[in-house]
Amino acid sequence: MLEYLENSAFSEWARGESLWGWPFALTVHAWGTAIVVGFILIINLRLLGFFRTIPFTSLTRLFPVVWIAVVFQFLSGFTLWMTKPSKYVTDGAFLIKFTLVGTGLVLTWYYFNTMHRETPEWEASGAVSRRGYKFVAASIFWWSGVLVAGRLTAYLGQLYAQ
Ligand code: HEM
Repeated sequence: MLEYLENSAFSEWARGESLWGWPFALTVHAWGTAIVVGFILIINLRLLGFFRTIPFTSLTRLFPVVWIAVVFQFLSGFTLWMTKPSKYVTDGAFLIKFTLVGTGLVLTWYYFNTMHRETPEWEASGAVSRRGYKFVAASIFWWSGVLVAGRLTAYLGQLYAQ
């Protein structure tokens, strides 16, 4: 199965010389990473007391943009993965990163729902709930893990090529 994928026309195209294969997918992946991790960081910083002019209730409007960026992450990530599937399925860094992405998305979904429910109350009292702070801590930990494991996967990819 992996051999079939690796020899497919799509895989050969993604690995090829064209700027529209690997380089384009990596560029989209970098933008997606900036939006997913960057927007979540802005939300976390606001909950921690920065940017006080931004109302808590308006933060939930950032989540739809995060979900759209996640779709692009899957499309561009799949294109990158298709260049050497048999290497990635045994790459510890990639497997850790993929697991963290999956669990991180579930966590972010709960984060969004909690904020949707609780932000009017936070706005009125001027204070974030304990639950809110727990999501801040968990999401910083999770998405930092994705960044580190993602970068390490890229370095292991270089090692394979030698
Ligand atoms: C929100 C979700 C995701 C984030 C934040 C993320 C983040 C990253 C980062 C930071 C890198 C390193 C890029 C670089 O070195 O310039 C990377 C590489 C990569 N990611 Fe993702 N990623 C996500 C989702 C996915 C998914 C769903 C897949 C697979 C379907 C995937 C597959 C890959 C692959 C194959 C690489 C290339 C590693 C290499 O260069 O060998 N990613 N990702």
